[in-house]
Amino acid sequence: MTFVIAVDGPAASGKGTIAARLAALYDLPHMDTGLLYRAAGLKAQAAGVDLDDAGAVAAIAAQVRPEDLNDLEALTSRGAGEAASRVAVHPPVRAALLKLQQDFAARPGGAVLDGRDIGTVIAPSATVKLFVTATAQVRARRRWLQLTGRGEAIAYEDMLADIEKRDARDAGRGAAPMVQAPDAVLLDTTDMDIEAAFDAARRIVEAARARHGP
Ligand code: CDP
Repeated sequence: MTFVIAVDGPAASGKGTIAARLAALYDLPHMDTGLLYRAAGLKAQAAGVDLDDAGAVAAIAAQVRPEDLNDLEALTSRGAGEAASRVAVHPPVRAALLKLQQDFAARPGGAVLDGRDIGTVIAPSATVKLFVTATAQVRARRRWLQLTGRGEAIAYEDMLADIEKRDARDAGRGAAPMVQAPDAVLLDTTDMDIEAAFDAARRIVEAARARHGP
């Protein structure tokens, strides 16, 4: 049976680190699907395209290739996150990025994907689904530490405002909104460091593996 792990949740919840570590543990390929939206947003901005122009951004999103996901410094900047969330509201943009993600999820050996709609849209029959969350304050602090630690100048209050705005946009959009799938296991990492969060995630995955067989 193909072993697919779907990890969804809001910004800075820990889902990316958890997904990467699960992938390493089970020797599975990992796709951070947020990078696709970030790459589409950055490419659109570089081309001078209005991020609210669904058709024009979708044409650019259709050209996103795995090689576009290499410049992590640019892709993980604050501006790229904001651009990603703006382009991700457009159904044609999501459609343009769908096949890349579904092909990845269908890899014969299995895969780990993280994002907002993996358990609901991209891989609804995933072996195990996690919805990783934490309070907005804790997530804002984590992201603030991450960005200021590498020299981005930003106030904590602005980071919190960013996170709250992005949560509202991601959860409120009509197309593939961020929502916990009914069969996803909720993992609240508010009071956990990354080791504790990973350990909890690993136990959830082990329980699913035991249910589904090897
Ligand atoms: O790392 P962080 O959680 O801040 O963001 P991300 O996972 O890189 O995603 C950036 C933005 O892309 C999100 O705010 C979503 O609007 C969008 N996204 C999405 O709509 N669907 C996905 N599967 C992944 C990301």
